[in-house]
Amino acid sequence: MKPNILEASALTKRFGGERQMFARTPTVHAVNDVSFAVQTGETFAIVGESGCGKSTLGRLLLRLIDATQGRVIYQGEDITHWQGAKLRRLRREMQIIFQDPFASLNPGMTVGQIIGEPVAFHGLARNASERRERVAQLLTKVGLQPAYAERYPHEFSGGQRQRIGIARALAGEPKLIVGDEPVSALDVSVQAQVINLLESLKAELGLTLVMVAHDLAVIRHMSDRVAVMYLGEIVELAPVDALFDTPLHPYTQALLRAIPASSPHERRTKPALQGDLPSPTAPPSGCRFHTRCPHAKPRCSQERPLAEALPGGRQVACHFWRDVQNAGSGAPLVASVSAKLNERLALYREKQAAAMANTHTSANANR
Ligand SMILES: Nc1ncnc2c1ncn2[C@@H]1O[C@H](COP(=O)(O)OP(=O)(O)O)[C@@H](O)[C@H]1O
Ligand code: SF4
Ligand SMILES: [Mg+2]
Repeated sequence: MKPNILEASALTKRFGGERQMFARTPTVHAVNDVSFAVQTGETFAIVGESGCGKSTLGRLLLRLIDATQGRVIYQGEDITHWQGAKLRRLRREMQIIFQDPFASLNPGMTVGQIIGEPVAFHGLARNASERRERVAQLLTKVGLQPAYAERYPHEFSGGQRQRIGIARALAGEPKLIVGDEPVSALDVSVQAQVINLLESLKAELGLTLVMVAHDLAVIRHMSDRVAVMYLGEIVELAPVDALFDTPLHPYTQALLRAIPASSPHERRTKPALQGDLPSPTAPPSGCRFHTRCPHAKPRCSQERPLAEALPGGRQVACHFWRDVQNAGSGAPLVASVSAKLNERLALYREKQAAAMANTHTSANANR
């Protein structure tokens, strides 16, 4: 097994709860007692419905926000309270790519300034001409023309903007990148291009990727291992094939039923889960999923299920996962959704093959 690059240990983040005149603001229990380890060089995915705490967890891992409780370990060192020069070094080694590249790119800056800023900040260029050269290299690396450095973000398409965001993330020569829904805002064919870019950069630069996403087709295509989140907690963690072939947790099973169709606009035609997502200001007692779980029993509302480690590097947090499995709840539903999933996967693979063929042709042309 490869060494761990990043570990979350009992990470908890609560927002709000501040004292006001006569009351407190509501406390949002965004992330609760989350533990896992990311292995060097893998693509580790964090998946779950909107509002379940994925982005908060991603920001905690990168120390962009401080944890309420728990620790973050990076390459064996406890970074939870790092400040100053140490934190700056961390900022260089761990980067984030956001869902909405337009919102995350300053509209008043040229692409050259946007990408050049981290180059200068981390002291990776001695003067302006070295900086320009580095920006040109980074643009080329993400498949854009160096001349684009003179232009502004609004002059680009969504896919190109995401490439600019990736170039900026690469500027400090990071070891780990967190992608917070990096392709969710893009059309499916553009998604495939950006996914291919991320995968080839990962291979070329030896990166570790943490992918935060709600789209299971993207997850299935890209990741090695997957953590499934529900209302701030990890309910299941498994290698990607095991998770899709035999989902053990009732919530994972429900999520797989909700796999999007071939176009992002067809997503969620019928509700995958009964009932509303409970408010994270008042998470249900015991198992947080008990208000929506078709298998819930009285014990579920009283006792929080702890993660149980299983063979094959899996873990699941459900009191009754064995009963659920014996009742045959996992397998049949996968068969019923796999046609839709396969359609998307086939498209990603097709684009991947085309991209590889292109690389070979241009490599030959350059010889
Ligand atoms: N800065 C914040 N202040 C208060 N609540 C927040 C803040 N950031 C996120 N939240 C809340 O925390 C919960 C988890 O949010 P988020 O991590 O963005 O979920 P996801 O990325 O899975 O959609 C949500 O209820 C959200 O409203
Ligand atoms: S612990 Fe109970 S409520 Fe929670 S997922 Fe398992 S069966 Fe459902
Ligand atoms: Mg989010």
